[in-house]
Amino acid sequence: AHDSKANVVWNRTSVTQAMREQLNGHSGKCIWFTGLSGSGKSTLANALDIELNRRGYHTMLLDGDNVRHGLCKDLGMSEADRAENIRRVGEVARLFAEAGIIVITAFISPFRKDRDAVRALFDDDAFIEVHVDTPLDVCEQRDPKGLYQKAREGKIKDFTGIDSPYEVPPRAEVILKSDIFTQQELVKKLIKISV
Ligand code: PPS
Repeated sequence: AHDSKANVVWNRTSVTQAMREQLNGHSGKCIWFTGLSGSGKSTLANALDIELNRRGYHTMLLDGDNVRHGLCKDLGMSEADRAENIRRVGEVARLFAEAGIIVITAFISPFRKDRDAVRALFDDDAFIEVHVDTPLDVCEQRDPKGLYQKAREGKIKDFTGIDSPYEVPPRAEVILKSDIFTQQELVKKLIKISV
């Protein structure tokens, strides 16, 4: 098969990540939210983004629904497409981290191997996995987009938690219980571990 990478070298850039981080006044890293649809990932990721921005940190927020309108608009919800979605987002997150930015991502990312492949792109202290651990019945009760109801009616296939699996992260750096604690309490916990 034709190897498209055969004639591509890796160019070392002159301005290093360390130089970019020094200019920004903090290191680049990835804060990776994972959890069921309706768990509160996007809301909490957004709240963290607001608070870090307010405190003067350089951040970027990547959100599933938004990314699927652009970078990943060719992808669906099969296991293979979700893997490719998470792979692309992971690579983009790494680029942001290399630019010295705190990148916050909010994707269901239901498969452990896909999340672990992203983790492997980062230094140990530059990848923080945040499990938004909201019980399925609470997510389904909230059903902010009416998707659980559609999934139950068989109108959406491969819906996470219904007929597609969610693999709980065994070693998330942070576990958030959005059905027990207030958003303010959870953001406080997130800030502590983020910077
Ligand atoms: S994944 O699994 O990480 O690739 O998914 P993600 O890119 O985060 O996209 C999840 C959002 O897509 C909507 N949606 C579905 N979710 C789960 N399963 C199925 N089949 C599905 N179809 C559409 C849904 O709005 C998800 O948004 P959130 O914010 O998680 O509710």
